[in-house]
Amino acid sequence: MADNAKLILEGKEYEIPVVVGSENEKALEISKLRSQTGHITLDSGFVNTGSTTSAITYLDGEQGILRYRGIPIEQLAKNSSFVETSYLLIYGHLPTKDQLANFSHLLNMHSMIHEDMKHFFDGYPATAHPMAILSSMVCSLSAYYPESLNVFESFDSQAPRLLSKLRTIAAFSYKKSVGHPMMYPQNHLSYCANFLQMMFAVPAEPFEADEDIVKALNILLILHADHEQNCSTSTVRLVGSSQANMYASVSAGILALWGPLHGGANQAVIEMLEDLQNSGTSCKKFISSVKDKDSKSKLMGFGHRVYKSYDPRAKILKEMTDLILSKRGVNDPLLDLAKEMEETALSDSYFVERNLYPNVDFYSGLLYKAMGIPVNMFTVMFAIGRLPGWIAHWKEMMDDPQTKIGRPRQIYTGETARDYVHIDQRK
Ligand code: ACO
Repeated sequence: MADNAKLILEGKEYEIPVVVGSENEKALEISKLRSQTGHITLDSGFVNTGSTTSAITYLDGEQGILRYRGIPIEQLAKNSSFVETSYLLIYGHLPTKDQLANFSHLLNMHSMIHEDMKHFFDGYPATAHPMAILSSMVCSLSAYYPESLNVFESFDSQAPRLLSKLRTIAAFSYKKSVGHPMMYPQNHLSYCANFLQMMFAVPAEPFEADEDIVKALNILLILHADHEQNCSTSTVRLVGSSQANMYASVSAGILALWGPLHGGANQAVIEMLEDLQNSGTSCKKFISSVKDKDSKSKLMGFGHRVYKSYDPRAKILKEMTDLILSKRGVNDPLLDLAKEMEETALSDSYFVERNLYPNVDFYSGLLYKAMGIPVNMFTVMFAIGRLPGWIAHWKEMMDDPQTKIGRPRQIYTGETARDYVHIDQRK
């Protein structure tokens, strides 16, 4: 129990309760502030506002610590699989052998999408961004599983259904974009090997996913699996707080992820590096341009709202990218350029003073590229990875009796009251 804080406002003193988390994180609990004082708090972009308590992920941006349900991501990346980590996030503990086998069985059972949904893909132009398709398809799942509209029931079947189908929808949207026949899931394969098969196999040709790539994909997805109250997860929670079903809530989260300041940064990083390579612009020159606020350009894949030290996910991904490229004997000049850019930025006082380091998106695209995944699918890969986190947060919120509909307030800065003027009398 921490002491209450005291607030003195317009000459009156108020007690503000202090909430303390299990890692000693502290918050002022201000839900009664307006009814007691007539004031609200104002925090554009929620820079300093906690929207909930949560027992899913612990993140210390100063120390570069990230743990899912208490377990460091370094340990999960080394020892776990994406399916096991998904179970951990959603159910709060590592599964026993039986629980994991049952969960994998459910994922297999739900891996197909309704044949009618395949026709939806035909309605999109070949140039459609796969994130647009992904979000619409996920929302459409609620039409096929109307029991999902009862948000307090059927979670244990809806969660694996969505986890499994998102992977199938993602692979089908890629096949649609290249005009290849869609490859159905094969249930004897692991989650990641099955995804690679749906993406890259073609009928009449044998296909076996490379073991190193399957391992790298597992690690990539594990590292993306949750990141507490980020933009897309907060969107899932906000939409779900109106008791919208899980598919609708996740569909909204996918759209929030798409933006280049969030998950869309992985695509933007590669496009930025390719532009620099093609134009022959030096890293120094580019760094000078992003420091100029009028240029409106940024060093994509750098900076983070909560990490003020090296993003622990980026550290693992940088090593993984080196490993996979060297194992495959590939020399990607974009990796050399990315490393040079990182070095140039980290020795520049602008980046040092602002604690701007590479984030998860700086190296992930190079790894996806090495796996043969096309650039416009990078953010889709992020969505597949982030899905267990979104589901876990949606469930945590639904199970919490304290949950209220998300409804921020505002400070109005528009016109004060004035009369309607007839159109003939307007100047
Ligand atoms: N390049 C150049 N300058 C930057 C960058 C960058 N990538 N990131 C932040 N800055 C500067 C800002 O201009 C600001 O400068 P100022 O103090 O002189 O005004 C300062 O650093 C602080 O940055 P903010 O924008 O206030 O930080 P915020 O927490 O609002 O934004 C964000 C974080 C959106 C990630 C930002 O760093 C950014 O746009 N990065 C590039 C996009 C990106 O990589 N996004 C992926 C994030 S990770 C993820 O979502 C998975």
